[in-house]
Amino acid sequence: MAIYEINGGTPLSGTVTISGAKNAAVAILPAALLVKGQCRIENVPDISDVRILLEMLRGMGARIEQPEAGVVVMDCTDVGFCQPDSVLVKKLRASYYLMGVLLSRYGRSLVALPGGCSFASRPIDQHIKGFKALGAAVTETDEYVSMEPGPNGLCGNRVSLDVVSVGATVNIMLAATLLPGQTVIENAAKEPHIVDLANFLNTMGARISGAGTDTVKIRGVEALQGGTYAIIPDQIEAGTYIAAVAATGGDVLVKNVIPKHMECITSKLEEMGAEITNYDDSIRIRSSGKLCGTTVKTRPYPGFPTDMQAQICVCMALAGGTSRLTESVYETRFFGYCTELESMGAYIQVEGKTATVYGKESLHGATVRARDLRAGAALVIAGLAAEGVTRVENIHYVERGYERLIEKLTALGAKIRRVEEY
Ligand code: EPU
Repeated sequence: MAIYEINGGTPLSGTVTISGAKNAAVAILPAALLVKGQCRIENVPDISDVRILLEMLRGMGARIEQPEAGVVVMDCTDVGFCQPDSVLVKKLRASYYLMGVLLSRYGRSLVALPGGCSFASRPIDQHIKGFKALGAAVTETDEYVSMEPGPNGLCGNRVSLDVVSVGATVNIMLAATLLPGQTVIENAAKEPHIVDLANFLNTMGARISGAGTDTVKIRGVEALQGGTYAIIPDQIEAGTYIAAVAATGGDVLVKNVIPKHMECITSKLEEMGAEITNYDDSIRIRSSGKLCGTTVKTRPYPGFPTDMQAQICVCMALAGGTSRLTESVYETRFFGYCTELESMGAYIQVEGKTATVYGKESLHGATVRARDLRAGAALVIAGLAAEGVTRVENIHYVERGYERLIEKLTALGAKIRRVEEY
């Protein structure tokens, strides 16, 4: 079992370059299945979720080359209808995007239920509601979702989501891209990766408007053709490094970011005492490591992201005074890491959706276990800021979403290594 071993207490300094966005990549790579022709996709992060997805797509017959780091050239022209490998599907959440893609391209689909980080119950009823609105006859079992055209065939329609869901918005956009007629998604998610997917699809010939607002319109087209597209930088990876500097103290230039996407995160860290300077495509963060408490409520974009909940909690655990952290997207997310942080000396009381975090002068090293991707990232930050040695177990979760984490942190002066046999 591999672990991260961190010798904490060193301020971070230097420059870190952010990789392409995981949650955009895991939507755009399956979306390439809608294209007849060659797609060159740039700024693709080399993380385990992407590697699994590429293996799945190769297994379905996609011709995929990776001519240089960060570049995927994909040709799905000759891919016939097939069922993606269920073992691989269960390894990640985003494999459910193949439901929308297959429905759009072939009018039917058979895909196992997805896996991924299980920090909460993660229903897909809104995806199914959307597919049904587009005319699909849907059969759900404990293992699979299968779809075929319903009695009136497949056609664009109006779908009003009952909850703001990134996955359902993406899946309905994918499904509607090649269907006749217009689809309107109301109460759509507005995350940057929704816009990125729309931009990718439009570059290949789709007609999608309104992405980034709560109403997305998709006018179906007959075919998409190849092209070149670069994925946006990862908002959460950038936020994780910024939170790490806030917690450990230091001075870091975070390159390849879209500062607008970061405002919901940087404004909170500024409130806590970090100094933030925005440039065109980079952000400088300076922190003395002495933070003050604050109040945060996670919300869909442009609110404070749930995927930064655990990382900001570490900053709160080290801040002066008492902080309040309320989760409004995934209520059970606190259970992935609060107990672990407490074993490092943090004092956190969770009651329902809210954690009250009583700041401490310092944390101390301990052996802790990651239970999901962002919880794992938070434990790494806690280890970097803590006194003594922290060992983070279950690092496969962290490696789902952070490209070259050890290399990037080491370049910033962190004392962290991956121990292969523990
Ligand atoms: N929801 C439903 N029904 C649905 C879909 C969602 O009730 O059919 C609920 C969920 O239970 C949740 C809320 O709606 O309470 C939002 O869920 P959403 O569908 O937006 O989440 P997701 O698409 O499954 C994506 C990211 C997550 C991120 C969430 C929220 C991907 C692959 N995953 O998940 O990212 O936490 O949006 O922003 O894009 C991560 O990167 O670590 C990660 C978990």
